[in-house]
Amino acid sequence: VVTTARGERAAASGGADHYDRYVVPFTTAYTQALLDAVGDRVPVRVLDHGAGTGTITRRILDRFADIHVTALDPSQAMLQRLADQLEPSLRDRVEIRRGTVADLRDPDRFDLIVSQLAFMFVPDPEADLRAMRAHVETGARLIIGVLGGRSDVTAFDLYWSAAARLDARLAAPGDYPHFRFADPTNLIAALGRAGWTDVECRRVNAHREVTSDDLWRWLSGALPLRLRTGEPAVVAADTQRRLRVDLLAAADAYSIGPDRFRLPMDGWCLCATA
Ligand SMILES: C[S@@+](CC[C@H](N)C(=O)[O-])C[C@H]1O[C@@H](n2cnc3c(N)ncnc32)[C@H](O)[C@@H]1O
Repeated sequence: VVTTARGERAAASGGADHYDRYVVPFTTAYTQALLDAVGDRVPVRVLDHGAGTGTITRRILDRFADIHVTALDPSQAMLQRLADQLEPSLRDRVEIRRGTVADLRDPDRFDLIVSQLAFMFVPDPEADLRAMRAHVETGARLIIGVLGGRSDVTAFDLYWSAAARLDARLAAPGDYPHFRFADPTNLIAALGRAGWTDVECRRVNAHREVTSDDLWRWLSGALPLRLRTGEPAVVAADTQRRLRVDLLAAADAYSIGPDRFRLPMDGWCLCATA
C-alpha cells in the first residue's frame, strides 16, 4: 500500500461520472423525502448545500418555475458535471459556487436550504448549521438528508471491513466519516443550538440492487481507500483481487438471487424552520 497525490487526482477526475452512475441510483428515496418535505410552499432563493453533480438542484428547478438556486460544493469535478448537465435554458437561474458555507457572502439570503448526503462530510456540523442560520430570515426552511450508521449503509461497511482485514494499515469503517449518524440525536440537538426550530426527523429507507461486477465497480471506484493515518491509499493489483473476493463473500449475506445483491442504504431526512 502506498500513497500518491497522483492517485488521488485520478480518483477525483473520474469521481463525478462514477457518482452519477453508481451512487445517484440509490439516492432516489432521499430525494423523494427531501422534495416531500419541501411541500408546496414556493421558495424564491434556494441554497443547495453540497450540491454535487446537481441531483437536487435540477429537481428543485423543475419543480418551481421562478426560483434561483445557489449550488455550493467544494468539489470542482462535481460542479463541472453539474454545469455540463444543466439545460442551457436553466443556466441563468443557477449560480454555481465552489466552496463550503464559509464561502457564503454577507448579502446571501435564502428561504430554503437543502443538503442531500453532504453533512456526513462536514467537519463541524453545528458550525455549518449556525452559519446557514445567519443566511436566512425567520420562517425559512432547512432540509437535510444524511446516511445512517454502519449497519444502515451496509455496502461501504462490507468494503472497508474487508480492506482492513486484508491489510491492517488500511482504514476500517470507523475511520471514514460516512457513518456519523447512526443515531441522529446529536444532529437534532445541534440544529436546535444553531437556532433552528420545529425540527423533525424521518427515517429514509433506501437500497441499491447490484450485480457482483456493479458492486465492485461502485465501491472500488467510489473513493480511494484510505490508510488509517487518513491519506489516500493505492492498493496493489493482487490485494485488489483478494479484496474483491472477500467483499463478494461478505456480500453473500445480501444475495437476493443469482448474481444479485440488495444492500440497504438507510438514513435520515431532517427538516427545520428558522
Ligand atoms: C454524496 S455527495 C451528494 C451530492 C448531491 N447533494 C446529491 O444528492 O447527489 C456529497 C457532496 O458533499 C460535498 N461536500 C464534501 N464536504 C463538504 C462540505 N464541507 N460542505 C459542503 N459540501 C461538502 C462533496 O464534494 C460531494 O459533492
